[in-house]
Amino acid sequence: MSSISAPIPQIQENGLLKVARALKEAGSMMWTGSPMPANLRELVEVGVPLVQTFKPLADRDKLLKMISQAEAAGVTWVGVEIDAGQGTKILDKSMVTGCSPILLSELKEIKQMINRPLVLKGILSPWDADKALEAGADVIMVSNHGAHTIDYLPHPLEVMDEIVKIVAGQIPIIVDGGFRRGTDILKALAFGAQAVGIGRPILYGLAAAGQEGVKTVINEMAEELKRTMTMTGVRNPSSAHRGIILTKYFCLF
Ligand SMILES: Cc1cc2nc3c(=O)[nH]c(=O)nc-3n(C[C@H](O)[C@H](O)[C@H](O)COP(=O)(O)O)c2cc1C
Repeated sequence: MSSISAPIPQIQENGLLKVARALKEAGSMMWTGSPMPANLRELVEVGVPLVQTFKPLADRDKLLKMISQAEAAGVTWVGVEIDAGQGTKILDKSMVTGCSPILLSELKEIKQMINRPLVLKGILSPWDADKALEAGADVIMVSNHGAHTIDYLPHPLEVMDEIVKIVAGQIPIIVDGGFRRGTDILKALAFGAQAVGIGRPILYGLAAAGQEGVKTVINEMAEELKRTMTMTGVRNPSSAHRGIILTKYFCLF
């Protein structure tokens, strides 16, 4: 699951708990974003690995305090959204304000401060990837936030090759943005991602059928992925390779 927690409490009563339980049962990870859920500890207690990501709030004292609260609640990883220096928006409507660009030196301080792996989300260029490594990131997420930061951003798969080259296997790479089927996930793996974040489909699953609906979304994607791996001769996720992807468009008619 990608960080997409904001609308969940309005979709179903105890929605966040239902999502946490569904993801745990499906063997997936949970990512929560802004606002940080008040019941974070309760979600962690479900036993699902949980990542809390933070926007670079202009009030840095508040940001650091919230990071400490997330750690105290027992999250698995702490995340910082490096590209949300002006918050996020959907079309022309601001969704989160009160942010300011975060410096490399500040990311290094956060890395020193926390006792959890640090994931930096919003990496979209080899330059970003290089700086993330310098900041001490343990994981990066290549993401354009579903195009909620600025218009005309590339899709993660358009920039993966350059980023994979810079990261050179030093840390895991996760991608998100528009992954809807097992076939999409296999493409991400073939481009060099170690995991894929799923955002809006989690909301649709919850709205359609609650906890069971979320589990079905993950399970069906996993089944499709397994089927497609079999059909393309990929024995395990880490052996997905670019040879299974057509790079030229052939038209027979
Ligand atoms: C309603 C909504 C809320 C979101 N909130 C956050 C957030 O708080 N933090 C974050 O890093 N990304 C946030 N995102 C971006 C998602 O985590 C994800 O990157 C994006 O939706 C792309 O994945 P998808 O196409 O599978 O939905 C949000 C997206 C949506 C639609």
